[in-house]
Amino acid sequence: MQDGWAIAIMAAGKGTRLKSRRPKVLHEIGGRALLEHVIAAATTVVPAEQIFCIVGHEAERVEAAVQATGVSFVLQAEQRGTGHALQMLKAHFAETGAALPANLLVLSGDVPLIRPETLTTILATHAQEGAAMTILTALPPDPTGYGRVLRRAPGSVDVTAIVEQKSLKPEHGNPAEINSGIYAFNTEALFARLDSLSTDNAHGEFYLTDVAALMVHDGLRVVAVQAESVNEVLGANTIAEMMHLDQAMRSLAARRLMANGVTIFRPDTCVIDAEVEVGPDTVIEPFVQLLGKTRIGSECRIRSYSVIQNSTLGEDVTVRNGCVLDGAEVGDGAILGPYAHLRPESRIGARAHVGNFVETKKLTLGEGSKANHLNYLGDAVIGAGVNIGAGAITCNYDGVHKHQTTIGDGAFIGSDSTLVAPVTVGAGAYVAAGSSVTDDVPPGALAVGRSRQVNKPGWAGRRKAAREA
Ligand code: UD1
Ligand code: CA
Repeated sequence: MQDGWAIAIMAAGKGTRLKSRRPKVLHEIGGRALLEHVIAAATTVVPAEQIFCIVGHEAERVEAAVQATGVSFVLQAEQRGTGHALQMLKAHFAETGAALPANLLVLSGDVPLIRPETLTTILATHAQEGAAMTILTALPPDPTGYGRVLRRAPGSVDVTAIVEQKSLKPEHGNPAEINSGIYAFNTEALFARLDSLSTDNAHGEFYLTDVAALMVHDGLRVVAVQAESVNEVLGANTIAEMMHLDQAMRSLAARRLMANGVTIFRPDTCVIDAEVEVGPDTVIEPFVQLLGKTRIGSECRIRSYSVIQNSTLGEDVTVRNGCVLDGAEVGDGAILGPYAHLRPESRIGARAHVGNFVETKKLTLGEGSKANHLNYLGDAVIGAGVNIGAGAITCNYDGVHKHQTTIGDGAFIGSDSTLVAPVTVGAGAYVAAGSSVTDDVPPGALAVGRSRQVNKPGWAGRRKAAREA
């Protein structure tokens, strides 16, 4: 942690260019909101109490989304530019009487791939150069849309000004070096100049970037430090730019897994969140999504079109095509799908099978039990070695309350049975196919919960004759 530093994150803007109702900083890449990425990087530098998020557009929604991180919020009710955002921070310090931090690192809520190492480099450069302002810059292939950094001379570390794209004049040429929107400041030097900013520019806004020229004019040093990778300073002003960053994050995640011995066919087609863990020798087929806090053991096979979220899979698990798992736990050697839907609190035992078009919810399925075709199993505790026939379902809901079904070890539930909860089927019991089971079945018993079949010999012929008559 860095003493004498606080961090401001500018996150008040609407993001007009996104054409979205959702505030820009809550758009997600790599499965996390832009602002969450930035806060995560910031908390590697200073504790959350030293991080000030400047919020404005849909402030309540933005605050609620990142409240849990423990950062402070400063309201910029009207969004009149990045310079105005920092004016609000200055006013906040004045109002609360809080001691000013000696230095301020300013981050943009829409520049999400910034790495902690780079932030450390900015802080170090800022101190070494004795600068009043240190600007993180980059040389992207296409600088269009970004503010440009003008160096005092080629190769000089000193900067004379930042010029916004729309204010570029012919005499500037087309400078290639962009302003990342990330800066370190001497706090007093910054705050002393915020009131001198004007809105006399193409956007009619207070530009924080104008502080650079003001400082240089007063004889203070403004320096630039270039980011190692262009990707980490890319901004996300449009959905297309955001998806470009998303892809960059996902491919990082895929490469991290492959480096640990995971095989991913066509990794460019898979969507893998940053926190996902997968064991070695697991094979992931094309078009798989692994989301949230999913953990998958080794030697598993995840077949195409499966979407696995916040779930834990043991070793040697097979997830056949098209499964959807959310908040499920799956034991070693289990086989799922194709097209199984495991909803939250589904606990599938080792070597159990959950097959085609089976939906589960709040289910404990014991070791080696099988529900292979067309079942709904909700609010159920099912023992080991149980066979659930095709089409059998639990009726867990009476329209008001949910009720539990309990099935003992080794029981056999015939096809197309309905188990009307609350109900218990004892260990080793049989339920005849097509039964509606409303009463408990003792261990080892056979339950037949349907009317007997009646055969009427010759009926079809008599009907035909009656019709023809
Ligand atoms: C800004 C920089 C530009 C730089 C680019 C890098 C200025 C004037 N320009 O341009 O030099 O190349 O970032 O990505 O700063 N925000 C507020 N309050 C406001 C306006 C914006 O909090 O009143 C926040 C936004 O939510 C966003 C960040 O500040 O997170 C940057 O604002 P944005 O409008 O995206 O600036 P750019 O046009 O990208
Ligand atoms: Ca931006």
